[in-house]
Amino acid sequence: RRVSDDQMRMLIVGSPGSGKGTQSTRLLKHYDFSVLSAGDVLRSHIQRKTDIGQRADAVIKQGGLMPDQVMMDLIGAEVKTLGAADWLLDGFPRTLGQAQMLDEMLDAQKKPLRLVVNLDVPEDVILDRILQRWTHLPSGRVYNLSYNPPKVEGKDDVTGEPLSKREDDNVETFGKRLKSFHAQTEPMLEHYRQKSGSVIDIDCRTQTSPDASTTSSQDLFVNLRGDTSNQIWPHLVAIVQSRFPALKSASSS
Ligand code: AP5
Repeated sequence: RRVSDDQMRMLIVGSPGSGKGTQSTRLLKHYDFSVLSAGDVLRSHIQRKTDIGQRADAVIKQGGLMPDQVMMDLIGAEVKTLGAADWLLDGFPRTLGQAQMLDEMLDAQKKPLRLVVNLDVPEDVILDRILQRWTHLPSGRVYNLSYNPPKVEGKDDVTGEPLSKREDDNVETFGKRLKSFHAQTEPMLEHYRQKSGSVIDIDCRTQTSPDASTTSSQDLFVNLRGDTSNQIWPHLVAIVQSRFPALKSASSS
């Protein structure tokens, strides 16, 4: 039984293609918690041709962002249903407005965010990743021809169904998505940096990364900087382990 507030309430933030979905999926293989991916929720609406889906289809193709209130209604409601369960949000909030709405809801429940991890990946490597990305749209599972290729070319590892390219994974739309990250998401990151008053940088390129165990349990904001394959993962898993020691392992669920 849990005696104190040790619930995982965490955001994973990063520019398009920084690896948010990849790292969340990898964490899910180790721990028992829920992931809500804003992009996957919108793509599911597009596939089901709902009203929101029709709107999202146009916005995503253009590399724009859905309105704050629509996203809050979609994801905020899901977060509420998770109650005391452990959760991680990928891709929401993405603007200062969304962050303020989420904070307000969580503060009202006396369950504020406990960790924000920013995947800080240089721009020159992410375009290449995006162009090499293949996606299993129904599940949101992603592959990359060089980093994590599917076992059978062109097929999802779990279902064997065909993989596809996302419509927003092209040079032109990627440029717009990156612009909106700088204009809309960086102010949100600043909000969380100020809120916690502390940023931890892990620079994988110089191999001078601090051990995650040296991060204080009070720190809200963690910045992970990495440019290649397996540099982010060991730090991320160590941080999650030390911040949320009561998290059950996936096999024990
Ligand atoms: P969303 O799906 O969230 O897109 P995104 O933020 O642009 O992020 P991506 O899904 O492109 O990348 P990722 O960081 O998950 O990277 P991945 O793990 O796939 O949102 C799509 C759109 O929906 C938005 O543009 C917007 O229009 C709308 N939207 C969503 N949320 C919204 C919100 N809150 N408000 C308003 N609008 C919203 O990795 C990328 C590739 O790199 C993969 O091929 C992967 O295999 C590879 N890779 C990953 N890690 C590594 C590594 N360490 N080394 C080498 N390759 C790697």
